[in-house]
Amino acid sequence: MPGSSSDPLRAVLAAAGYEGFRQRLRESGCTRCALAEGRTRIVVDRGNPDAKIVAIGEAPGAREDARGVAFCGRAGRMLDDLFAAEGLSTDEHLLIVNVVKCRPPGNRAPHREEAARCRPFLERQLALSPARTIALMGATALRHFAPERAKGPLGAQVGRFFGLPDWPDREFVTLYHPAAILYNRSLERVAREHVRALAARVGAPFPARTG
Ligand code: URA
Repeated sequence: MPGSSSDPLRAVLAAAGYEGFRQRLRESGCTRCALAEGRTRIVVDRGNPDAKIVAIGEAPGAREDARGVAFCGRAGRMLDDLFAAEGLSTDEHLLIVNVVKCRPPGNRAPHREEAARCRPFLERQLALSPARTIALMGATALRHFAPERAKGPLGAQVGRFFGLPDWPDREFVTLYHPAAILYNRSLERVAREHVRALAARVGAPFPARTG
């Protein structure tokens, strides 16, 4: 475990910058919840820590668990496609994270207690990111940040931008989870509209970088 503290949580959170945080969490051997027992790797993220958008999913799946990279399977390819259509690269223009960093058995949704134990890491990711726009992908991410909004049908929330008192300088938007779109392709058209609105909100498409 890098860092001088014997408390893994404190050592991870004490990292000054995002790269240090990422490395410390990956190597932490975290056992703060029971998901540690079944995981292969701690999956911290994918993408660019300096991006203008943070997208939050639910939990790593089998491929993510094997590779240690968030959204690197089929759902990730759908996510890549939705953003590429708006001129955005998920590796360059997004930081992609999950509510929990370890794969739940059988890909079930994370339990509330597991999400709560992992929350300090997610909060630190947001605090270290310059992004002001946070996309909550699916019901688990929405429930984690805005439980009141998650009480009704997800369809009534997707595409809506909102603020939260705990995060005064951030704007949130709910999106369909890419895996839900793969499961129900009739969601795809409206999901693309939501991503288009999100891209416009952050000023995309961005001018190509030179040099
Ligand atoms: N689904 C998620 O919510 N997160 C991943 O990283 C992969 C699939």
